[in-house]
Amino acid sequence: MSDSIHIAVVGSGYVGLVAAVCFAEMGHSVVCVDNDQKKVSALQAGESLIHEKYLPELLQRYRNARVRFTTDLSAATREAQAIFIAVGTPQSETGDADLSYVEAVASEIARSITTYKVIAEKSTVPVYTNEWIRRVMERNGVSREMFDVVSNPEFLREGTAVADFLHPDRIVVGTDSDRAAEIMSKIYEPLTTGRYYAKAGAIDGSCNHDTPPPLLRTSTKSAEIIKHASNAFLALKISFINAVSNLCEAADADVEQVAQGMGLDNRIGPRFLRPGIGYGGSCFPKDVAAFRSVAEQLGVNFALLTEVENINADQKRRFLSKVRSALWTLRGKKLGVLGLAFKGGTDDIRDSPAIDLVRMLIEEGCSIRAFDPAAMQRAQQILPEGPEIQYASDPYDASNDVDALLILTDWSEFARLDLQRLSAAMRFPIILDGRNLYDPELMLENEITYFSVGRPTRHHTEELAAVASRSR
Ligand code: UGA
Repeated sequence: MSDSIHIAVVGSGYVGLVAAVCFAEMGHSVVCVDNDQKKVSALQAGESLIHEKYLPELLQRYRNARVRFTTDLSAATREAQAIFIAVGTPQSETGDADLSYVEAVASEIARSITTYKVIAEKSTVPVYTNEWIRRVMERNGVSREMFDVVSNPEFLREGTAVADFLHPDRIVVGTDSDRAAEIMSKIYEPLTTGRYYAKAGAIDGSCNHDTPPPLLRTSTKSAEIIKHASNAFLALKISFINAVSNLCEAADADVEQVAQGMGLDNRIGPRFLRPGIGYGGSCFPKDVAAFRSVAEQLGVNFALLTEVENINADQKRRFLSKVRSALWTLRGKKLGVLGLAFKGGTDDIRDSPAIDLVRMLIEEGCSIRAFDPAAMQRAQQILPEGPEIQYASDPYDASNDVDALLILTDWSEFARLDLQRLSAAMRFPIILDGRNLYDPELMLENEITYFSVGRPTRHHTEELAAVASRSR
């Protein structure tokens, strides 16, 4: 295709791998670079490595053709017009983002550059990172006219990453260079013109030919702040509704009704107002901390972010107290757990509130029977099977003979369980739902004692009395 651009994507994690196959889906020619030879070999062989909808199909379609995988960053740099840096920016001990991988990649690009390149940061990075990349390039002897650094933050969510990438709400291109902006516009042209959505077999999502996503051009620093501020704002929305859910519990109101009433206000909107056991994952916890740290370094008081973090940490402790108040004592109790991933639709357990809660419950002397549709293999690596935790084959198996069942991840399949079957499997029909997946009335009809977040509890008092008096 004549409009095809040669792209290198450095990093084959959630963002890099998804970006690589999606750029290929948009018609570009892509080299995806990772320094982990094992990962590269697996990707070459068509293993997608992460649980992500549409990824296996796209990988199958484009691997070793429109997307090639390699460890050779120098060769990839030489042939690419644009290089996207999508390596990890883990949290350092102080809360800052650790940018050593970004720096290492920039230095290596500098050593291999022979013609003009656009270097686009896709990793979530603090403001001023583009300046640092520029300085690293210059220190390594690359002259200013040989490259431009662009901030092109990515807003995809795990679990819906491919559809989010191809159907973004907006594309942000932060650059002060018209030359770089033009190349970035060409790269995203299949989306911004709507051409991609008219293509047969295009992946479905919220955009279509007549409502393509806008491309917003900003300064590099603004683009860097847009990414951190967006994630921090979404985390704030979740902490806000979680705090409201605590208020609802105290006032005997229903947070789902409150969230619905708030969300109908166009200025607020209904999304990211789902209360629960707190946000987790590899982005929100790290990005809120990094943004707080950036504010501190720039001498700006942003204590609001500390409160967002406090509410989030508290939400797990509150859920633990709820389990305790449902079961009285925790030592020796056998609990079924549905969900280990940090959210439904992914096998990612990084900073998962579900894993944190399982650990807290084990610490309290409980034994766990856990099930997750995708994350059990990863969970077993950090919580190996033993007397404290066993892994079940399905939700009913996880409920077998348990004192109570806990729902900790919002997998859609957990919202459609056969409640009679669950209830029959459990020793006591008590469900503590940290994700509000069920209507409390339905639980009552099925004679299940149901605790959820921010809603009045439906008690079956006999059940509670029985479990409390049971001595082991
Ligand atoms: C988040 C952002 O939503 C993406 O826009 C961003 O690109 C990404 O971080 C990133 O920086 O890479 P992600 O972490 O994949 O995406 O998942 P989310 O769907 O945002 O969920 C994050 C956490 O918040 C999960 O633990 C989820 O269960 C929780 N959550 C989300 C709630 O508790 N309530 C809600 O209403 C929404």
